Amino acid sequence: MKIESLSALEILDSRGRPTLRAYCQLVGGRRHAASVPSGASTGAAEAMELRDKDPERYGGRGCRKAAANVSGPVHDALAGREFGSQADFDGALIDLDGTEKKSHLGANAILAVSLAFARAAAAEREQELFRYFGSLLEQDSFYLPRLTINLFSGGLHAGRQVAVQDVLLVPLSAKTIDESLVHTSRVYHAAAALVEKRYGMRLLTADEGGLAPPFASTDEMFATTVEAIEDSGLEPGRDMAIAADVASSHFFSHGYYEVDGGRLSASEMRKCLQRWSDQYPLVSIEDGLAEDDWENWPALCRDLGSDRLIVGDDLLCTKVDRISRAVNSKACNALLLKVNQVGTLTEAAKAFQCARAAGWQVTVSVRSGDTGDDWAADLAVGWSGNQFKPGSVTQSERLEKYNRLLEIEHDHGFLLRGWME
Ligand code: PGA
Ligand code: ZN
Repeated sequence: MKIESLSALEILDSRGRPTLRAYCQLVGGRRHAASVPSGASTGAAEAMELRDKDPERYGGRGCRKAAANVSGPVHDALAGREFGSQADFDGALIDLDGTEKKSHLGANAILAVSLAFARAAAAEREQELFRYFGSLLEQDSFYLPRLTINLFSGGLHAGRQVAVQDVLLVPLSAKTIDESLVHTSRVYHAAAALVEKRYGMRLLTADEGGLAPPFASTDEMFATTVEAIEDSGLEPGRDMAIAADVASSHFFSHGYYEVDGGRLSASEMRKCLQRWSDQYPLVSIEDGLAEDDWENWPALCRDLGSDRLIVGDDLLCTKVDRISRAVNSKACNALLLKVNQVGTLTEAAKAFQCARAAGWQVTVSVRSGDTGDDWAADLAVGWSGNQFKPGSVTQSERLEKYNRLLEIEHDHGFLLRGWME
């Protein structure tokens, strides 16, 4: 695969903030594009997005420098070169950048190009994108991932009215993606009706399309979720369970967790998570403890991990060294995989393999600032992730991913994974 040209431009994400779209054209092929997402609730160990820091444009968040890096130095170094694989191509990008956190060219620039190359390579092989992604892991049989879908948000995704960032629905009894979405939509509308009645407010949505009423506490957020499931006619815990992205790094300060007006030590925070798990049908807890609270994660995983997912997001940042540390210390049992935390497809594939080799589950995730590009759905299927977390069932940047899953299910009839399967 010989590169004809690489270029990029600044575009806007679902929050109206700049992000990047890159283009890759192989010699003899068409030009292919890919757009990258951007987080708000970011982990400290994530690869670095390059931002312009020009206060006159988008509060300094512009991506013109990152775009110029692709169209300039990256194009100049790689155009005319032949690459046998995604790993070769990504390796060249990593070498060209030369920094630990991809701060020279920008992780946003590097990932956009890595994905655009994947699209061009898939087209050259006349493969659907999920099959090309599968080939990176030498995988050629596929499952559809079980969905986790945002219902309510607090934390950094909704102005911090409560500590916990996201409460998600897990359609447990659904047999297909189609049925998962039908069940979720029923609960979403039941929840919207409850919120309107109880809080008498317009239906404000959070960054990932979840509802964000002024809950007085996280308990109220969980209890309202259970109520909405009941109102929809589904059975909590059997048809529809709950996942929580606690995102606790973002309310951890000076050794304490600041939850809904209280200050909790790590062991009190673990007890709080235990109580929520006893009281509500909670089957997955993401970032229940903070990203550098390594010493307390193993006890959390030991106490709650036997029959539910203990997921590391900020803790792991999709990085092999952090995943290995967590495997060795039994800190969690599932990886939240966000490709832009690490910066190339090849490195994300290694992170995926490292987690799977340890017998962990992998939840493929999008970011809170996303675009209409649907590559993440192909990635979740191509790598046969156990779960997929694309956001709520509103907003087109989320729905593009669900619609792509519906399309794959319709065209190929792959089976939907069972929960924790
Ligand atoms: P993000 O985080 O806002 O950084 O995308 C979402 C998450 O915590 O899973
Ligand atoms: Zn998270």
